[in-house]
Amino acid sequence: MVEVKTIQFDKPVVKGTIQVPGDKSISHRAIMLGSIASGKTTVTGFLEGEDCLRTIDIFKKLGVSIEQNGTDVLIESPGIQDWTTPVGELYAGNSGTTARLLLGILSGSSVNSVLTGDDSLSKRPMKRVTIPLQSMGASISGNDEGDYLPLSIKGESLKGIDYQMQVASAQVKSAILFAGLNAHGLTVVKEFAISRDHTERMFKQFGANIQQDGNVVSLQGGQVLKGTDVVVPGDISSAAFFMVAAAMVEGSTVEFVNVGLNPTRTGIIMVLEKMGAQVEVLERYGEKEEPYGTIRVSNSHLKGISIEGDIIPTLIDELPIIALLATQAEGITIIKDAEELRVKETDRIAAVTNELNKLGAQIEATDDGMIIKGPTPLKGAKLKSYGDHRLGMMAAIAALITEGPVEIENPSCIAISYPNFFEQLSDLIKKGEDE
Ligand code: S3P
Repeated sequence: MVEVKTIQFDKPVVKGTIQVPGDKSISHRAIMLGSIASGKTTVTGFLEGEDCLRTIDIFKKLGVSIEQNGTDVLIESPGIQDWTTPVGELYAGNSGTTARLLLGILSGSSVNSVLTGDDSLSKRPMKRVTIPLQSMGASISGNDEGDYLPLSIKGESLKGIDYQMQVASAQVKSAILFAGLNAHGLTVVKEFAISRDHTERMFKQFGANIQQDGNVVSLQGGQVLKGTDVVVPGDISSAAFFMVAAAMVEGSTVEFVNVGLNPTRTGIIMVLEKMGAQVEVLERYGEKEEPYGTIRVSNSHLKGISIEGDIIPTLIDELPIIALLATQAEGITIIKDAEELRVKETDRIAAVTNELNKLGAQIEATDDGMIIKGPTPLKGAKLKSYGDHRLGMMAAIAALITEGPVEIENPSCIAISYPNFFEQLSDLIKKGEDE
């Protein structure tokens, strides 16, 4: 039986202040680095989403002691050199970040393991990671020359690499940097467009010496990390859903406290401003580690824009919800250079186009993006989530502006990155009714 959630509102307004759950990318990395380092690491603000819980389970199987209590995590590790060979497979669930970063980590460890994932993850390309890792000396084998999970990884002694990235992907960059940490010699990664730099920032927090010079990142192998205390800010990719709601629903204003403001992730703010929404950054802290602060977003008249080039990696996960926003903007919005959307949890170009068009939007899919005509009034319909958390949340936010209910098939996938999404949505609507 397919689970279906029906969402209907009567002229809603979203208002209030929220703190969205911890950043998914940073939560994964905190568990990974706390497990690689020796000694004690604490994590506060951890995202209790399913993807990050898979990462915890995997490191426990490698012999690391991890106690998770809500958003607090305590890690005590002997260090990567003393991990134990796991009993059974390491299951990454739906999480591309877990799988790809682990390939880099496990390749240079001293354990042998088999990495598996759910149906969606088993269809996502891994060669982008296994090819550079194999040229560092990694021993990885599996179906289709190692392009798909399950993959078997035999820990080896690796050598550094000078690598020019072929795709704009922080997962690929991070996998190589993690492998480089345990390799002999220098590892250099050159990007053509800068992707999220959480790995680089957190390596420094754990005491590693890593250089960032424009698009080039380099580090010497053989560095030993020490446990530390990590504070995870709110996930701007989760906040993006309510930022769009505030921008698009008449009379709305939402304030986001403690939300991540790392410049490699804030493309959504630039897009909202360029489209004409009112966005104010009220407070900004943490410039040395992970920047975070308070932002306020309010509704106003929106216009279509072009989104392409170097900004794409800084908002790649926000493009489904940006597409919804564009249906309410006057004129044409063009999204280009975003072919990576085709290999996310689902083909997000096809899925977003199909689902929003069911609501009456005018969207045309292109090879590397979408062309969206607006503004179009939207009507309710039954939408598929494709088991993709961001598609599920896009459908729920669409219900704020549709005439008639939106039914979402398989909404539970939203817990992958935003377990309390529906509670926060209700809170903002209630605040809107109260005012
Ligand atoms: C992530 C990188 C991005 C993003 C994903 C998380 C990360 O993927 O889409 O949700 O934590 O490094 P790519 O690096 O494949 O673009």
